[in-house]
Amino acid sequence: MPTAKEVKDDEIVRKAPLFSALDDESAASLRASMIPVKVSKGNTLFKEGDAGDRLFVVIDGKIKLGASSGDGRENLLSILGPSEMFGELSLFDPGPRTATATAVTDCRLLSLAYDQVVGLITAHPRVGLQLLGRLAQRLRRSNEGLSDLVFSDVPGRVAKAIMDLGTQFGVEKDDGYHVNHDLTQEELAQRVGASRETVNKALADFAGRGWVRLEPRAVVVLDIERLSKRGR
Ligand code: CMP
Repeated sequence: MPTAKEVKDDEIVRKAPLFSALDDESAASLRASMIPVKVSKGNTLFKEGDAGDRLFVVIDGKIKLGASSGDGRENLLSILGPSEMFGELSLFDPGPRTATATAVTDCRLLSLAYDQVVGLITAHPRVGLQLLGRLAQRLRRSNEGLSDLVFSDVPGRVAKAIMDLGTQFGVEKDDGYHVNHDLTQEELAQRVGASRETVNKALADFAGRGWVRLEPRAVVVLDIERLSKRGR
């Protein structure tokens, strides 16, 4: 009899793009062939520029993907949570890792070697379609991010980042929409491409207007409508 934790883990895994096109039997055999990996908070799984030979699915926790400029500045490309996948670019476009993957919280992951991914796509072409869908979604988001950098001001980008993090990690509660992003203000600033001071100012302004309540590594959204409008 599986434990409650195993059942929950299974639900999370089944939602990952690698698994969602598979029947139960193929999904179970894929899962059995994947290797569990644990990464403690603050530790780096791989670095931008490393050689890659496997991709990862998040079961529990949050992973940040960051790229750095030559002078040491960081750009936070994405934060990933349960069911999300990363590390596939070096398979489809062979070359070094395009970002550094670091655990924002303690993480449990599953890893799959690239030759197994190729075998899986060959045996189940719909898995390939799912992965293409995920890549297209990522490109769409990257394009949006580029437009925001050009067309939106910093408060607009902060509002949008909070709402986006809410879509991934938000929980509706009686006192508001809790977005437990687990990021420092520095990391939030790296996510929106602005200085920590400007991001601080934008957050304090939102709090002053009663749109959000600030908590350590979390934002409670009190007025979703106004904040979403500011991020549009
Ligand atoms: P890979 O290049 O193998 O290792 C780093 C991973 O970060 C990459 O595969 C993608 O899975 C992920 N990644 C890179 N750029 C982005 C991005 N702009 N948005 C989301 N994920 C990304």
